[in-house]
Amino acid sequence: MAEPAPIPPEPYLWRFLVDRRHQGRGIGAAAMAELVKQCRRWGHDSLTLTWMPGPGSPEPFYRGLGFEPTEAVKDGEVEARLRF
Ligand SMILES: CC(C)(COP(=O)(O)OP(=O)(O)OC[C@H]1O[C@@H](n2cnc3c(N)ncnc32)[C@H](O)[C@@H]1OP(=O)(O)O)[C@@H](O)C(=O)NCCC(=O)NCCS
Repeated sequence: MAEPAPIPPEPYLWRFLVDRRHQGRGIGAAAMAELVKQCRRWGHDSLTLTWMPGPGSPEPFYRGLGFEPTEAVKDGEVEARLRF
């Protein structure tokens, strides 16, 4: 995660992953909750990321947390935003 700079002005998450051996234990959801807290501390009310669509995509995970596609596609990945 990068602290927002003038460009881009919004927190943007990339390369977020949980070790395969520890997936499905709530670690991802707990880490995302901490990231949202950090964004709030920075004074922001949204977080943006992208996911690769298709089989094995983390899309259901992010949708379950409330992320919604922005309709933008970046390098073949779906951009989505969580507002809080
Ligand atoms: C996607 C990822 C970050 C989720 O982390 P995690 O620790 O496994 O997720 P959690 O255990 O906190 O799961 C939270 C919820 O999301 C669901 N979920 C997690 N990964 C999912 C997936 N790939 N597809 C469908 N649902 C998923 C869980 O079933 C759980 O649902 P519940 O709340 O109804 O029980 C992790 O599985 C991962 O790193 N995957 C591979 C790498 C990847 O795709 N990274 C993103 C691209 S950069």
